[in-house]
Amino acid sequence: MTDRYIPIIDQRKASSSAEVAQLIQQGKLTVNDKVVDRLSRPFRDLRISVTDRCNFRCSYCMPKSVFDRDYAYLPQKDLLRFEEITTIAAAATRLGVKKIRITGGEPLLRKNLEVLIAQLSELRTTHGEPLDLTLTTNASLLKRKAQSLKDAGLKRLTISLDAMDDAIFRQMNDMDFPVSDVLQGIDTALAVGFEDIKVNMVVKRGTNESQIVPMAAHFRGSGVALRFIEYMDVGASNGWRMDEVLPSSEVLALLQTRWKLKALPAKSVGETAKRYGYLNDRGDLDPNLGEVGFISSVTQAFCGDCNRARLSTDGRLFSCLFATDGANIRDLVRDASTEDIDTLAHHLAHLWQGRSDQYSALRQAGVLPAGNAKQRIEMSYIGG
Ligand code: GTP
Ligand code: 5AD
Ligand code: SF4
Ligand code: SF4
Repeated sequence: MTDRYIPIIDQRKASSSAEVAQLIQQGKLTVNDKVVDRLSRPFRDLRISVTDRCNFRCSYCMPKSVFDRDYAYLPQKDLLRFEEITTIAAAATRLGVKKIRITGGEPLLRKNLEVLIAQLSELRTTHGEPLDLTLTTNASLLKRKAQSLKDAGLKRLTISLDAMDDAIFRQMNDMDFPVSDVLQGIDTALAVGFEDIKVNMVVKRGTNESQIVPMAAHFRGSGVALRFIEYMDVGASNGWRMDEVLPSSEVLALLQTRWKLKALPAKSVGETAKRYGYLNDRGDLDPNLGEVGFISSVTQAFCGDCNRARLSTDGRLFSCLFATDGANIRDLVRDASTEDIDTLAHHLAHLWQGRSDQYSALRQAGVLPAGNAKQRIEMSYIGG
């Protein structure tokens, strides 16, 4: 799959506001849902980070050794305000964005997040439909917040949970946070009526592989879909090593020693997870038993269909999870000459047309830009 790509020079910083303004004036820049990047991929998914802080210190994301008391988190004035986020999101919908995921850090730490959710839930796709509005959380505050999130118009929830065993969970979040609170958060979310809840488990060889079967056993038939994620070399601080990656193929093989599973067809283009359903005793697919998914960005890159961009807490737009630089959208949305949705949409179209990222596919093929590993931005800053 990687063969059809030719690495192209990064175009993200190539255009100034003046150049884009000129293209707009000349009518040379189009805004609609047919806009594609340099690898013919449309823009469908925007992930918005609302804080770079978190109350957990998962070693694969915010290791304590780096994210300590002295770590320079973003100052309040640099954060995008809710109105600014909504304006940028509205511009993105003009290009065909259908899904918005609110992330962090831990997004529920952002004050009055429900206000933002209510604003985003008013947006419509190019087909006039409500957005697929979802949020990724560690669920530490979910018990308290589930009802208000639902009332504000949030459609779906994804919860990060790496172990059922309390001791392993406390060790992995590195803040001694008990697993029972997360499980109560999930129960509350189900009770207030969230119907599409997913749990994401990052699997690290030597750390939590003992939890694969207990996690599957717990969520099988619970109405919650469990997804196993390969530990990725994202950011510059987690000390990633290939020998700590447990390939999805091994996770699947382990599950198959206990249950019968059948591959399910993809629901949409750009789906990150390969999904499997459980078979019942008669050998039939049983939807009541639910499904598991595998997100294999290390061993089976999915860049070919990648239709997502990430908006950082301070308003920079990153066209890849492994990018080293992002386009400053905050300045545009704070400038009277570019702050309107239409002008912003043209800027986004121009950026998207210059996009050529395919980091995971290149890494799998053994070709990586030199120096990338040291400069990569952290996932807690651009969002999961
Ligand atoms: P759903 O629509 O709920 O299925 O969400 P999703 O497929 O976008 O997945 P989710 O947001 O739950 O992401 C799960 C995990 O997949 C993330 O935490 C990352 O570890 C990984 N992931 C998500 N997006 C990307 C991506 O664009 N590139 C890579 N390499 N990994 C990604
Ligand atoms: N590898 C894979 N997933 C990661 N996440 C954060 N860091 C990593 C990593 N190194 C993802 C997890 C978590 C979400 C918030 O971010 O899926 O659930
Ligand atoms: Fe926080 Fe999620 Fe990162 Fe863990 S993975 S440190 S919960 S943002
Ligand atoms: Fe998309 Fe970059 Fe992830 Fe590939 S590595 S799927 S291009 S975000």
